[in-house]
Amino acid sequence: MFSNGSFEGDECVCSSRVLRTISVSATTMSRPRVLITRRDVPQKALDIINDKCEVDIWHESFPIPRDELLKKISGKDAILCCVTEKIDKDVLDAAGPNLKVIGTMSVGHDHLNLEEIKRRGIKVGYTPGILTDATAELTVALLLATSRRMFEAHTEILNGGWKKSVWSPLWMNGWGLLGSTVGIFGLGRIGQGVLRRLQGFGVKRFIYSGHFPRKEGEEMGAEYVSFDNLLAESDFIIVTCALNDETREIFDDKAFAKMKNSAIIVNTSRGGVIHQDALIKALKTKQIRAAGLDVMVPEPLPTDHELITLPNCTLIPHIGSAEATTREAMATLTATNIVAGLEGHPMPAALC
Ligand code: DGY
Repeated sequence: MFSNGSFEGDECVCSSRVLRTISVSATTMSRPRVLITRRDVPQKALDIINDKCEVDIWHESFPIPRDELLKKISGKDAILCCVTEKIDKDVLDAAGPNLKVIGTMSVGHDHLNLEEIKRRGIKVGYTPGILTDATAELTVALLLATSRRMFEAHTEILNGGWKKSVWSPLWMNGWGLLGSTVGIFGLGRIGQGVLRRLQGFGVKRFIYSGHFPRKEGEEMGAEYVSFDNLLAESDFIIVTCALNDETREIFDDKAFAKMKNSAIIVNTSRGGVIHQDALIKALKTKQIRAAGLDVMVPEPLPTDHELITLPNCTLIPHIGSAEATTREAMATLTATNIVAGLEGHPMPAALC
C-alpha cells in the first residue's frame, strides 16, 4: 500500500512536471527575454519584469564581468543595467538584432554609446529626477565631511592621535560655510538641490557656471559667472555636471592654478570631469586645500591608489543615490521603462 501510494505519487509528480514544463515553454516562447546584470535588484522591480518577461539574472554578488555580459546578452530583447556596464558597439553586436530596449538604473548615461544605440533603433530608459534629493543630500554631506575634516578626525580616534592632541585649540580645525562663496559647476536638478539645501548655512554668495544662465538660479539668488570666475572666486566648488566631451577633464592643471589656495572641491558627478593626476598634484602641492570625491577614475579605486594616501582628500565609493527608497524607486522606474519599451508603449522616462 505504502509503496503503491509512493509509486503513484511519483507518477503524479512526474506528470505534473511534464505539464509544467510544457506550459512554461509555451509561455516563454512568446515572452521577451531580459538580462538583469545585478542580483540585488529590489523585488518590486523584479516582479514587474517577471510578470511579463523571461528573466536571466546575474546571480553573483559582484558586477557581471565583461566576458559574461558579452555572452549573456546574446539574443536578449532587453537589458537592465547599471552605470558599471559599458554598453558599447561590442555589446550591441553581441546582443544581436533582438535587442530592443536598454533600461539603465541611473540618470547618468556616459556608459552608453548613445550614437550607436540610436543608429540601431534601440530604446533607452533612465531614471531622471528620482535620485536628485538623495544625491544632493549626499553632496552636502560630503562637502561638510571634507571641509570639517570628518574622516581625518575619525582616523585620529582610531590611531590614538586624539590622546596626544586632546582638544588642542588648533587641532582638526576645518573651514565653515558661513560667509563663504560657493560655486556650483552645472546647475541642473542636482546642483539646484545642493544650492537649496545650503541656503541655511549662511553662505554669502552662490555662483554657478554652465552653458547658460538659468531662471532657477536667479530665483534662488545665485549669480551666473564664467568658468574662470567660478574657479577664481569660489571657496567651495561643487561639481554636479554631466560628463560629456565638453566637461571631460575640464578641471585640469590650468583650472586648479586659477583656484584659491584655500579652495575645496567636491565632485559627485563623474570622476572623468576632473583630471585626476592634476588633482593629486594640486592636493599635494597645496595648490588647493582639499577635495571630496564620490566619483573617481577608475571605479572601484585600487586600494593602493595615491588618492587614498592624501589626508586632504575625502573619498566615498559612488554612493550619491544609495538611499533605500531612492534605489527602490530607481529600480521600479527602470523595470517599468523596460516593460513599456518592450510592449511598444511610451516609457515613463525615455532617454531616446
Ligand atoms: C547615476 O544615476 O548616474 C548615479 O551616478 C548612480 O548613482
